[in-house]
Amino acid sequence: MILSIKAADIVSSVVDAIIVNLFEGVNEPKGATGAVDRALGGAISELIAEGDLRGKAGEVAVLYPRGAIPVRRVLVVGLGKPESLDLEVVRRAAATAIKRARELNTKTVATIVHGAGVGGLGLEEAAQAVAEGSLLGLYRFDAPKHREPANQVEALTVVELDPARLAEVEAGVRAAESIIHGVFLARDLVNLPPNIATPTRMAEAARKIAEAHGMTLTVGDREWATEREMGGFLAVAKGAGEPPYFIVLEHNANRTDLDTVVLVGKGITFDTGGISLKPAEKMEEMKSDMAGAAAVLGAMHVVGLLNLPLRVIGITPCTENMPDANGYHPGDIITASNGKTIEIISTDAEGRLILADALVYAHQFQPKAVVDLATLTGACVIALGEMVAAGIFCTDEWLQAKLVASGVTTSERLWPLPLWDDYKAKIKSLVADMLNSGGRYGGVGGSAIFLKEFTDYPWAHVDMAGMALITKKILETPYNSLGATGFGVRLLVDFLRKW
Ligand code: BES
Ligand code: MN
Ligand code: ZN
Repeated sequence: MILSIKAADIVSSVVDAIIVNLFEGVNEPKGATGAVDRALGGAISELIAEGDLRGKAGEVAVLYPRGAIPVRRVLVVGLGKPESLDLEVVRRAAATAIKRARELNTKTVATIVHGAGVGGLGLEEAAQAVAEGSLLGLYRFDAPKHREPANQVEALTVVELDPARLAEVEAGVRAAESIIHGVFLARDLVNLPPNIATPTRMAEAARKIAEAHGMTLTVGDREWATEREMGGFLAVAKGAGEPPYFIVLEHNANRTDLDTVVLVGKGITFDTGGISLKPAEKMEEMKSDMAGAAAVLGAMHVVGLLNLPLRVIGITPCTENMPDANGYHPGDIITASNGKTIEIISTDAEGRLILADALVYAHQFQPKAVVDLATLTGACVIALGEMVAAGIFCTDEWLQAKLVASGVTTSERLWPLPLWDDYKAKIKSLVADMLNSGGRYGGVGGSAIFLKEFTDYPWAHVDMAGMALITKKILETPYNSLGATGFGVRLLVDFLRKW
């Protein structure tokens, strides 16, 4: 889709549909909506007076100007009450409106920037939210099935009346455009089936990113990992039919003068549980167990597009977790790359094993911060719910505050959970330095305290198990439909841009 910015009066736009807005409780629309209302002889005020349009969030009214203005259709989207306006309201409104425009098979759309100046929202961030919501809402996974040619919006113009304000709108819209490329990359990788989105495919995606932005790329195979004694990664990969790859992308690789941030993503391309086999029911959802890695690749793509002035390293250990004659066993004792030994209790607690070696590998970059993203535990979903918030565990107050703030801004929310040493007692082993699982109770804390054993820098762990995949209609939002959400890309990029 072509995204553009224009200094113009929305009333004179020559497109298939224009999008304006209405706050709940407003009887006489002002601003752009007011101008359109006047041009239509009060048609919008009439809808309001009749009670047919109230400006509630999620509401869209469609009006036909019948020649009064050049545009073919006017869509008025509700923004809810002014006091509850925030960036997420703007994103959702933009998505709701443009999806309606697509349903109506409009090809060219113009929109105003919703909400700028209300409730402290800046113009640039509001413009970014409008573009983000619009593009995210229009996402469709190109599924390998036959279907009717679908409607497609071909061009969206973000219109601002005041030419002096255009630069800010442009900055927001262009940032959103870059960010959305990363989100779509992540969504596509997660939506792809596990026979396609293999570690090989993850490495291909990383290669494309590296080539596009001149990043340094390392794709470590089994032999490479063996040389580095990555016993955690190799244990999980032992039973894998697909070749495993330990992937490292480096943006500004040699710029050690810049602050270094390392992003780590869990890349289990399919989690059967291994010998500790999962129940068959809903096992297909475990194709999303590489969503952390997908988010890191998506974020790295955006880091390259925006050419952020930071040294950013993306590490994604990728492998299947399969039951196999060569698979690792419960009872095995393995040695991670920092020399610590781990007694395997469950081969289904595999994510922390591959992350352990990735976190050890991160050390050499002398990072100012390491953030890992992982669909790590069902326990985190039990604690926080599906599509509510990811859990965050952090060893550094400043880092946690920055990440939580980015979670609020992007509405990819993070909720702090404790790294108390009490959890360590639960993973105490008689025969190794630790167990790979402390059992059901406090399962999310046990997993985090395990990972902490492999870190020696400011570190944050994000458990996004409940956030990667929408599996039920009731969990849909205007811009997150059934399938992958791309969770983490917008969060990480916001965090890095504000470093
Ligand atoms: N990939 C799963 C966690 C998961 C569960 C992700 C639900 C998304 C939705 C992880 O590898 C796993 O199997 N965790 C186990 C850990 C247990 C064996 C200690 C779990 O949560 O049950
Ligand atoms: Mn598992
Ligand atoms: Zn897993």
